[in-house]
Amino acid sequence: MNKPFKQHLIDPEVCIRCYTCEMTCPEQAIEHDDNNVVVNADLCNFCMDCIPVCPTGSIDEWRVVKDAHSLEEQYSWDELPPQEDIAGPAGDADLDALDEAMAALLADAHQGAGGKAKAPATAAKPTINLHNLGKPVEAVVQGNYRLTDSDGNVDVRHIILDFQGHPMPVLEGQSVGIIPPGTDAEGKPRLPRLYSISSPRDGERSGYNNVSLTVKREEHGVCSNFVCDLEKGDTVKITGPFGATFLLPDDPEARIMMICTGTGSAPMRAFTMRRQRTVGAKNGGMTMYFGARSPKDLPYHGPLKKVPESLLKQHLVFSRVEGEPKEYVQDRMLTDQPAIADMLKDPKCYIYICGLRGMEEGVNSAFSTIASDMGTDWLSLRDTMREEGRYHVETY
Ligand code: A2P
Repeated sequence: MNKPFKQHLIDPEVCIRCYTCEMTCPEQAIEHDDNNVVVNADLCNFCMDCIPVCPTGSIDEWRVVKDAHSLEEQYSWDELPPQEDIAGPAGDADLDALDEAMAALLADAHQGAGGKAKAPATAAKPTINLHNLGKPVEAVVQGNYRLTDSDGNVDVRHIILDFQGHPMPVLEGQSVGIIPPGTDAEGKPRLPRLYSISSPRDGERSGYNNVSLTVKREEHGVCSNFVCDLEKGDTVKITGPFGATFLLPDDPEARIMMICTGTGSAPMRAFTMRRQRTVGAKNGGMTMYFGARSPKDLPYHGPLKKVPESLLKQHLVFSRVEGEPKEYVQDRMLTDQPAIADMLKDPKCYIYICGLRGMEEGVNSAFSTIASDMGTDWLSLRDTMREEGRYHVETY
């Protein structure tokens, strides 16, 4: 009989098919087809390089098995199989040692990422991976509007995509993939790039089968330039929806804290519009810390000004306004310490962080200071919140 061993797997329900793990794995043990991203048990040596780079935590899945799940099996999964009851060597010394080694490695890998993401308990069940690489859905561009001033530093666009008669059931906080046309340097079709949806589930315009995206033009960015140059009536190949954890609780009393930079505001716009269209101002409240270079570079600056404070308390902070000191979101969090402390104490508080990866460290350190002044250890509070589906990070 084969000895049980721990097999590394990827949760197809949570994976957003960004392929970062595949690009990171030094053993080439991770591969994908049109459906799933999978791990080759013959090649994986548990180096854990893939764990911290995964934006969703879907990479952090393990099953004790007697026979490895084959690549074919993994490609066919819509969800992970439950842990089998492995009869026989329960408490087996080798297995215990493996468990301990794995736990130590995982703890190390999670220091930055913070562990496995979990959806809020009251979030609606998302549809994921409905349209895949082999069968993308075609959307028609309904509009492409520049959100930032033409004399500003950044070109950020509001793109509206109409799915006509095709199904595209999305929830706020989910993403879609856009497949740029053409081939890569090796002549292979290009892989999709992910964009957060910035509209609520019932459409950019309520009752329409459309979604909006917030896309920044990146110098030399193949997909971002393609998307930012799209014109009304153009068609685009879309995959998704993706993402099963960065979701809004349906509980109207949930208190939402949003921290974002630049295009990280996309899901926050979707959350705000969802609340505006459903429970309105009579909810647990929403507070946003939003960083941009200047008002000219802050996406949705104009529309945000019209959102009442009773619905959304806004802290718009700027890093490059002439004559003013540079301010980052984490600086404002510290200035607003009493309000943040009050939210951290609330068991109905949900935190969402989205934007530049670089801000994670500063935001984490601001939370540490605030928690420590409350006599609380931030890392254990963060872990509790994450395990309760109340702490969400999406950075790039
Ligand atoms: P800055 O680039 O002036 O240092 P972008 O316009 O590139 O999307 O960035 C959005 C905002 O995030 C800008 O104000 C940018 O400031 C800011 N930013 C850059 N690095 C960090 C960081 N480590 N923590 C918080 N904010 C940051």
